Amino acid sequence: MNPTLEQILNRRSIRNFTGESVKADDLKLILQAAQQAPTSINGQQVSLVVTRDKSKIKQIAEIAGGQPQVATADVFVTVVIDYHRAQAAMAETGEDMVISRSAEGILVGSVDAGIAVNALQTAAESLGYGTTTIGGIRSNPQAMIDLLELPQNTYPALGSTIGVPDNAVPSAVKPRVALESFAMDEVYDAQKVAQGVKQYDLDLRKWWDSLGLTEMPSYTAQTAQFYNKVYFPKVAQSLEQQGFVFSDEA
Ligand SMILES: Cc1cc2nc3c(=O)[nH]c(=O)nc-3n(C[C@H](O)[C@H](O)[C@H](O)COP(=O)(O)O)c2cc1C
Repeated sequence: MNPTLEQILNRRSIRNFTGESVKADDLKLILQAAQQAPTSINGQQVSLVVTRDKSKIKQIAEIAGGQPQVATADVFVTVVIDYHRAQAAMAETGEDMVISRSAEGILVGSVDAGIAVNALQTAAESLGYGTTTIGGIRSNPQAMIDLLELPQNTYPALGSTIGVPDNAVPSAVKPRVALESFAMDEVYDAQKVAQGVKQYDLDLRKWWDSLGLTEMPSYTAQTAQFYNKVYFPKVAQSLEQQGFVFSDEA
């Protein structure tokens, strides 16, 4: 297997860090890798805000719902959906920004933010760092907007921790649903999905138990626990305050 595939197939979220610093040269490469990710229409509607100030990283850990592992990261990178840049481009042509006030615009920004964070994390891991994607910042989006001084037409979609992994704390690759219930031939196969869910519930249970984490919920319980409610109820409100509208109309 080639080293790229080996890295991708072994990836896992890392939540224990030594406290050592991410080297400035490495961080620059990591940010460049994120920037080289594709963006819809080459609009580059993603920006990164890099937080290195430890007191601010602690604040972000609190904003994210009190996630202690975030506080111990050396760097926190917020991935921002950014139509402020597009607006600056459009100001050159005298046109009005419409797309950020549409469902399509919100979807495009979210997709591009996700692609960017993946490139960022892959680059960081290739340099020996550990990362975890943090969606928890959307539990209090306004606090992130204030902390990072985000202007209109921008939104803190998610973030990533980066740090030197503490290898004294073991981490393991988390299993996934069976490949055939994830990647389907020609048409969507609901039966394979249903079978995959049942099998995965058992597989994930075994995996947690093998790590001694017997109290961790398995797949069905965990999914139900999150998806039986809107767990981040301030997203629509804060999107609107930033100038976004989820609509098909201009
Ligand atoms: C969009 C997104 C948001 C996430 N938010 C959090 C988070 O706030 N806190 C956290 O500890 N992990 C978070 N995760 C990490 C997932 O829990 C993790 O990817 C999943 O459990 C699979 O584990 P693995 O990454 O180790 O394979 C997030 C992942 C994604 C893709």
